[in-house]
Amino acid sequence: MGLRLGDTAPNFKAQTTAGEIDFYEFLGNGWGILFSHPADYTPVCTTELGKTALLNEEFAKRNVKVLAVSVDPLDKHQGWVKDINETQHCSVNFPIIADESRTVATLYDMIHPNASATTTVRSLFVIGPDKTVKLMITYPASTGRNFYEVLRVVDSLQLTSNHSVSTPADWKYGEDVIIANTISTEDAVKKFPKGVKVIKSYLRYTPQPNI
Ligand code: BEZ
Repeated sequence: MGLRLGDTAPNFKAQTTAGEIDFYEFLGNGWGILFSHPADYTPVCTTELGKTALLNEEFAKRNVKVLAVSVDPLDKHQGWVKDINETQHCSVNFPIIADESRTVATLYDMIHPNASATTTVRSLFVIGPDKTVKLMITYPASTGRNFYEVLRVVDSLQLTSNHSVSTPADWKYGEDVIIANTISTEDAVKKFPKGVKVIKSYLRYTPQPNI
């Protein structure tokens, strides 16, 4: 069975464009994103890795390390990175795993045989500092991912891991959040001094507490 939310993210050692990496050592005590793409020298993948590189500061600000993976060999990654930098006006500044043995692809169930027998689909995992899986998304080869959405989810995960709140549909950093139903309204008023708005007994908002 593949990984599920809350599972421990498997550790691995892999050859990458930045040398051999031990995944857990690479992550340290911070957050991580491990994401696969189907193949080097393909158009959608070129835009995805370029966008990720351009968002480097946003990931760093959130203490997130990024690691890409496909089953292509290292020399192919290295040549392709030059094309990504040239065409996407970026500098790819995160490692790309050369997973020719499919070790990482298998551990993270990134090959979906009915989509492609040989290449990884667009899987993305957010890993928390406790090394558990916090988010999994899977896109087909034909659809590039929205990396602003990935950042938005990271914002939500980092907020909700430290405060008794959750985030509503389409929430963006800075907007009101939902108070956990485990907290009584009486306690919520004390816990959230910025204010408590009660819409229904089960639907209560407060301004984002960590800003
Ligand atoms: C692409 O990145 O454009 C792509 C990769 C594999 C299959 C189809 C499209």
